[in-house]
Amino acid sequence: MPHRPYVIDEMISAKSIAARVEGLARDIHEDFKGTDKLVVVGLLRGSFVFIADLVRELDLPVEVDFLEASSYGDSTESSREVRILKDLRGQIEGRDVLVVEDIVDTGHTLAHVTDYLSTRHPRKLRTIALLDKPARREVDFKATWTGFEIPDEFVVGYGIDFAQRNRNLPFIGKVRFTG
Ligand code: PRP
Repeated sequence: MPHRPYVIDEMISAKSIAARVEGLARDIHEDFKGTDKLVVVGLLRGSFVFIADLVRELDLPVEVDFLEASSYGDSTESSREVRILKDLRGQIEGRDVLVVEDIVDTGHTLAHVTDYLSTRHPRKLRTIALLDKPARREVDFKATWTGFEIPDEFVVGYGIDFAQRNRNLPFIGKVRFTG
């Protein structure tokens, strides 16, 4: 589908992201120290860059798994349906689990995913999102850790797409339409 022309203005530099990821890793370390195994669950697809950087900062016994969820329906409805398109490969019962997300927007995705994973009785379930847009929230959800709180802007890069493009930008940028 053709889009209006746009440019991308840098909002959070690669350097700032790297520094924040280091800080977040220290917090995670503190919370999960002594764990026999931490299952780090990336939500496809947007989290793939963040999870790759984050796990390399963790000096813990880590297992990596992925889950894909997709939401359907009117985004203005708090009843918006979230479906699991791809489930975990491994078991999480009795395990320490960290769910990694690129952005919390309405909150539906992470709220649903944490409810869904809780039914498998992990020992500890935590969530982390690189970006948080509280102005867009439709359900009461707060990630355990957040990298950056941002205003309601259309952002791309570091895993986040615009019509499946720009995920490979090393920074977080703001889309600005020029036409
Ligand atoms: C985006 C983003 C989060 C979700 C956040 O995913 O990656 O997973 O939406 O929105 P919410 O808080 O309003 O639920 P998207 O469905 O665009 O898929 P993607 O990760 O494959 O880009």
